[in-house]
Amino acid sequence: MRSNNAGIADNHAPILVTGGAGFIGSNFVLDWLAAGLGPVVNLDKLTYAGNPANLASVEASPDYTFVQGDICDRALVARLLQQHRPRAIVHFAAESHVDRSISGPDAFLRTNIDGTFTLLQAAREYYDALTGSERDGFRFLHVSTDEVYGTLAPDDPAFHEDTPYAPNSPYAASKASSDHLVRAWVHTFGLPAIITNCSNNYGPYQFPEKLIPLMIANARQGKPLPVYGDGQQVRDWLYVIDHCRALRTVLERGRVGETYNVGGGNQRSNLEVVRTLCALLDELVPQSKFRPHIELVQYVTDRPGHDRRYAIDARKLEGELGWRAQESFETGLRKTVEWYLANSGWVENVTSGAYQQWVAQNYSGRKAHATAEAAR
Ligand code: NAD
Ligand code: DAU
Repeated sequence: MRSNNAGIADNHAPILVTGGAGFIGSNFVLDWLAAGLGPVVNLDKLTYAGNPANLASVEASPDYTFVQGDICDRALVARLLQQHRPRAIVHFAAESHVDRSISGPDAFLRTNIDGTFTLLQAAREYYDALTGSERDGFRFLHVSTDEVYGTLAPDDPAFHEDTPYAPNSPYAASKASSDHLVRAWVHTFGLPAIITNCSNNYGPYQFPEKLIPLMIANARQGKPLPVYGDGQQVRDWLYVIDHCRALRTVLERGRVGETYNVGGGNQRSNLEVVRTLCALLDELVPQSKFRPHIELVQYVTDRPGHDRRYAIDARKLEGELGWRAQESFETGLRKTVEWYLANSGWVENVTSGAYQQWVAQNYSGRKAHATAEAAR
């Protein structure tokens, strides 16, 4: 595709981040500002998954601007681009939870597809009017997922950038659609965009609807640890800061029009993850009355259409751009558990109100099949 490869490394104009109050977005904003890479404008609707408290430590920084708003609002996006003249758009905003996409897909199509379309149109209009180095350096970075590639059998090779798209959940289909739109805007309109497809992230500030923070939160309270189906589904785990650094690398040195897969080479079954978490909690909370935490495991009705295995081949990103994951699964998971233990107030804040309704809706209809013994 396009050969423009000026990168944005030496330019300290602002970047526009969408969805920066969510899990990965807030880690990215904190990491970016800590590295002194220039101002950030964060456009976030603040859905249930967005939490401004994640960014409390930078709230007063002159380099940080928060705008509450919807990426589907074309006039707002156009105004922000004109006002702040960003050198890049880093697009995280999405509905991101597979189970919610099954019980209510509408918001996924709206934000993930229409929202990305709106951003692309606004970005294109903005980019078309840029000249000189502003134009050469501009990037649209679309943060996407490995779920667009579908599911793998146990011996299949890991997903690579040429693996055909085969999304299986409404979430994955909506992200695949957004990837296709980005590709078309590069090809047809010359928008200097790059797509990254990353595997499962974990780390601080992840909303406790996702496997790892949900298991930690439930285990702390002595609640059942709901393992879907047989617990043998495999995910390829990456510590969130490694993902953020990969995105920085791609912004600096990635080739326009390319896709880069991001993953840490940490394939684990869900049951292995839960076992490791329980062992960490046994060690780090020796006074817990719920030890051994593994006894809290409960097998429950599987997720409909549940993908069996994801695995990422990240050799393109590693070989071409020199990125490497720094954190092993063991060190990353320990840091994560320590963070959740030290930030129980954060967990309490986000698990009040609407969260309880979600838990009731998602888990009350799932039959429990077996408990702890089978998990040992
Ligand atoms: P998240 O659900 O934690 O955060 C999403 C953020 O987007 C929230 O702050 C929310 O308020 C905001 N948002 C939602 N709809 C919006 C709208 N219409 N306008 C503006 N803001 C809106 O998600 P996450 O886990 O941080 O994922 C971020 C991105 O990374 C997503 O695009 C997701 O598909 C992708 N991704 C996630 C993972 C993962 O493991 N979590 C892995 C690969 C890729
Ligand atoms: O692969 C990248 C994707 O990873 C991202 O694009 C998504 O935004 C992100 O949510 C994540 O999707 P998963 O569906 O893999 O993540 P989740 O944490 O929901 O589930 C991980 C695995 O754990 C999955 O096989 C389902 C299982 N699970 C999940 C929950 C919430 C359980 O067994 N029990 C549970 O209660």
